[in-house]
Amino acid sequence: MKLLVIGSGGREHAIAWRLASNRRVQKVFVAPGNAGTALEAGLENVAITAIPALIDFARRENIVLTVVGPEAPLAAGIVDEFKAAGLRIFGPTRAAAQLEASKDFAKQFMLRHGIPTARYASFTRADEAREYVERQGAPIVVKADGLAAGKGVVVATTVGEALAAIDLMLGDRKLGEAGARVVIEEYLDGEEASFIVMADGTHTLALATSQDHKRLLDGDQGPNTGGMGAYSPAPAVTPVLHGRIMREIILPAVNGMTKDGTPYVGFLYAGVMIDKAGHPRTLEFNCRLGDPETQPILMRLKSDLLDLIEAAMHGTLDRANAEWDRRSALGVVLAAAGYPNDPKSGDAIEGLPAPTDDCRVFHAGTRLVGKTALTQGGRVLCVTALGDPLRAARSRAYEAAQGIRFAGMQYRKDIGYRAMRRG
Ligand code: AMP
Ligand code: GLY
Repeated sequence: MKLLVIGSGGREHAIAWRLASNRRVQKVFVAPGNAGTALEAGLENVAITAIPALIDFARRENIVLTVVGPEAPLAAGIVDEFKAAGLRIFGPTRAAAQLEASKDFAKQFMLRHGIPTARYASFTRADEAREYVERQGAPIVVKADGLAAGKGVVVATTVGEALAAIDLMLGDRKLGEAGARVVIEEYLDGEEASFIVMADGTHTLALATSQDHKRLLDGDQGPNTGGMGAYSPAPAVTPVLHGRIMREIILPAVNGMTKDGTPYVGFLYAGVMIDKAGHPRTLEFNCRLGDPETQPILMRLKSDLLDLIEAAMHGTLDRANAEWDRRSALGVVLAAAGYPNDPKSGDAIEGLPAPTDDCRVFHAGTRLVGKTALTQGGRVLCVTALGDPLRAARSRAYEAAQGIRFAGMQYRKDIGYRAMRRG
């Protein structure tokens, strides 16, 4: 059978690679893909992004199943449109994807269903938002309501910074429609973890735990990014905490979506802040797998990804079981010069190692020109390795990273430090 994966990041490279390992799968198309998916055995890129063209392609090629990587096509309703065309696709509908696509929707949803999260207020008028911030004081968090490709959240340490964010979003409309409404919320302190499950509308299956590093620079300094590295498992998510997150966040969310008439089928990602007393609170929901969390998570997946997705589509996740490699996995993102504000493109990438059983380089911002992989902005590669303990995975990933070269390559040297500090 032939499958189709939508997207072009490291997450999609990892999803397509895993799907291609199923014996029933003859080929996995990736639309639009990157240099890594162009070079990987069993995968083929197709240069299409528009939904109607994807539907035509899926029909023409007899695609048995389409898996959607990023949030933008989900929020645009790709699942609804494929289904209306009689095509099988895995991911939440447009209505369900609002959990990520509108922060205001997500906050109201959490309030309605008793899911722990930061206190908030939402605004469309700059003067009211400014007044609220001045009353609340700092630190405080200003978020664009809509999808803003990782640029929509400002964790302000001063009132001035928060006011500047409000002016940018509501005043100057620098984020367009995404910033036409802002959610302003209480600053939560603690340790962040990524909790990702598969949901079939009724049941859920938790994937291995993970943590990413959102800031650009070592020691969690510098601007927020899409994620500079990740590892799995996350020791911060103890078995007790795992149970609490399932009971207090994930199950009420999946049940709540069903009660509200928009059942959730797909990957569901809760960004969770764990405070000093060990209480989990929800920072956000994403309607997809995390990037780069997916790369270490799928390196560890021993079960068949296609079987799990099919169980989710048949509503039988309660009978599915995911087996994980006992080793840890860690991924280091190699980003382009100027990332995240003004990333550079078009530089040749050298020294890419051949994949082994315990180390693979997933591509993100790359494209193939002839036989050469060129950088294409943003996060370029994610070097991902398995090892036991985590320290061994980390050494292996960094060793491979050190052999790779492109102009202005930047990466964090301390991925996994929180987990290692725990010993
Ligand atoms: P979000 O897209 O809502 O997850 O926000 C991006 C990042 O901003 C999160 O991963 C956190 O690191 C940070 N963040 C978001 N909301 C809060 C909050 N209420 N308190 C502290 N940090 C936050
Ligand atoms: N790594 C964070 C995200 O995928 O949203």
